[in-house]
Amino acid sequence: MWYDKTHVKVFDPKQWYDLVDNEYKKYWSWLDSFCKIEFGRFLKRNDCDINILDLWAGDGRLRKYLSKLKYDKYFVCDISKKLLSKHPGKVQKFVFNLEDEFPFESDAFDLATSFFVIEHLYNLENFLNETYRVLKVWWKLVIWYFLQRREFVRKLDWIKFKIKMYKHKIDDIKNIAQDCFFDVETIPVFEKLELIGYIIVCEKN
Ligand SMILES: C[S@@+](CC[C@H](N)C(=O)[O-])C[C@H]1O[C@@H](n2cnc3c(N)ncnc32)[C@H](O)[C@@H]1O
Repeated sequence: MWYDKTHVKVFDPKQWYDLVDNEYKKYWSWLDSFCKIEFGRFLKRNDCDINILDLWAGDGRLRKYLSKLKYDKYFVCDISKKLLSKHPGKVQKFVFNLEDEFPFESDAFDLATSFFVIEHLYNLENFLNETYRVLKVWWKLVIWYFLQRREFVRKLDWIKFKIKMYKHKIDDIKNIAQDCFFDVETIPVFEKLELIGYIIVCEKN
């Protein structure tokens, strides 16, 4: 934990999400309002029994979309054990920092997702290299990158705190993903004519 220029406490993601584990669900409908995703469009026709990896799944907001796919294994992970413990359904859970090596074998997954997470990461190289390693050839990582305009400030017992965020440029993300050997497609997302983020599709070829 550290302080910003105005002496507001700045928490790292684990501290922050452990503290807000009971309130994160309040944001589901807001996040769902601009990120309804039909994941079937990223699969090839007739794909079934795929292995899914939701990288930083939180309390399971994406489950309603991903569980529509015909899957064999569905793995979820997060740095916050408290938030991940609220993830419903029959999934295998892993707690780790995505800045570290992933605890999975190479070429194990068909679809990886990472929604509203990379804004918390400083080291995108490790995340993209490790995701490339654990994906099977011809398969995809789908990232939703939100252009956060300001950091959220919370009050707890009258103490103000906010979460550390990194404002990555879309071209930098694209270049790093390409350096990690992904083929990359970026799809801009607009809300009322304003650019609010990107869906970034990274394919392992
Ligand atoms: C904004 S939430 C998004 C959760 C979920 N993907 C969704 O779309 O609702 C960000 C998630 O990333 C996790 N996270 C942030 N930094 C992380 C890190 N370094 N390693 C692993 N998980 C991290 C947080 O604990 C939190 O669950």
